[in-house]
Amino acid sequence: MRPIRLAILLAVAAVIPAAAADLGAARKEFVRFCSKCHGTEGKGDGPQADTLTIKPRDFTDCARMKAMSDDTLFTAIKEGGEAVHLSKDMPAWKDGMDDDEIHDLIAYVRSLCTK
Ligand code: HEC
Repeated sequence: MRPIRLAILLAVAAVIPAAAADLGAARKEFVRFCSKCHGTEGKGDGPQADTLTIKPRDFTDCARMKAMSDDTLFTAIKEGGEAVHLSKDMPAWKDGMDDDEIHDLIAYVRSLCTK
């Protein structure tokens, strides 16, 4: 095989796993870390939501979620709500999660939009 073809093959192989989000693992993370505020189904009705002045919003609301870019969601999760002018009660997760995990969580959150 010519080296250039091999290089292309390797490049493609490196991209595929990153592009396919692991929704099963992301769901587990969401239930573990996020559902206390956002609710297991992402409706913003987790047990801790009652204690917050600004409640988490409804991830199942497609119209609202479509208006938010992946970049905004990424920054909100990585840097916290304040970084995108949302509530500072949305914690920053950059210390505990790598970018791939955050991308998987975004794919999971997007999969919740049903109406
Ligand atoms: C302590 C409660 C709390 C926890 C835990 C929490 N969030 Fe949030 N989250 C919020 C609040 C409050 C907002 C901002 C709502 C607003 O300002 O309108 C928010 C906003 C967001 C947003 C921005 C989009 C939107 O709907 O406004 C995303 C995305 C998000 N959270 C994802 C997550 C993920 C993923 C996790 C778990 C890794 C998580 N959150 C954990 C409370 C929380």
